[in-house]
Amino acid sequence: MTRPYVFITRKLNEELFAPLMEIADVKMWDSDSEPVPREMLMKEAQKATALLTMLSDKVDEELLKSAPNLKVVANLAVGYDNIDVKVASERGVTVCNTPDVLTETTADLTFALMLATARRITEAQEFVKEGRWQSWSPFLLAGVDVHHKSIGIVGMGKIGQAVARRARGFGMEILYHNRNRHLEAEQELGAAYRNFEQLLEESDFVVCLTPLTDATRHLFDYDAFKRMKKSAFFINVGRGQVVDEEALIAALNHNEIAGAGLDVFYEEPIASDHPLHHFPQVVAIPHIGSASVETRTTMIKLCRDNIVAVLQGNKAKTIV
Ligand code: DGY
Repeated sequence: MTRPYVFITRKLNEELFAPLMEIADVKMWDSDSEPVPREMLMKEAQKATALLTMLSDKVDEELLKSAPNLKVVANLAVGYDNIDVKVASERGVTVCNTPDVLTETTADLTFALMLATARRITEAQEFVKEGRWQSWSPFLLAGVDVHHKSIGIVGMGKIGQAVARRARGFGMEILYHNRNRHLEAEQELGAAYRNFEQLLEESDFVVCLTPLTDATRHLFDYDAFKRMKKSAFFINVGRGQVVDEEALIAALNHNEIAGAGLDVFYEEPIASDHPLHHFPQVVAIPHIGSASVETRTTMIKLCRDNIVAVLQGNKAKTIV
């Protein structure tokens, strides 16, 4: 019997894949930083029984239809907007993601980004490194307080709740907007539900954690930014296309909002001369929400275990 063939779209630590290598032939794309070219991914998919993919790989209808042996796609992310799940399930392909294991790490990053944006941390670091620090002065790089302000969380999933727990420790008023009300979060975290417009109008920090779907694409348009307080900050650790980026740039230009902390962008990677970099009040980081060594290692192991389970005829642990 031929062994299953698994293609992994980044170079990852081979040692982590020992249990998979016992039951399958495993090939990895040979770069840990560059995505696998589309043609190569298409070619590998044609023979693959399993794919371990990154959020930058498009697993669309074209790819799925040209992969006759494919049984499982394990995506190294909680988000799976890069995968056509409908076509995959029609074709009997199991799609797995990595929920739960990245919740606290991503919440840490969200909070760090909010603090960095409000307290101008990256600007301050550049100021020191460029040798511009001449003397202490009262309002030198003065930002705004985070503690005891209001935070409006859009997308009260597990990460949203973990951010709310952190916000509670900062004495913040917690508002949230979600497709469905989350009574547990309301009781346990003292979070108050608002409709989208109310949340925008009342929050000092609007934190976007909602997944990208047809319903959320461009949810944050110019109108949304205009509704926010002029003193408010927009923080996005969800997906870039939930935001109309042109509208965000216009809102920043017109001082409709005070600043933005962005981990995700419309197109990734963002160009080094992107207009968003021209705003000192924007902190832009390269989609590192879940990027701690511990969490990324756990995510890789979860993908591996999901693939092993499916190849052995068992149910994967975290099916989309
Ligand atoms: C995810 O898991 O979807 C995150 O965006 C990766 O950091």
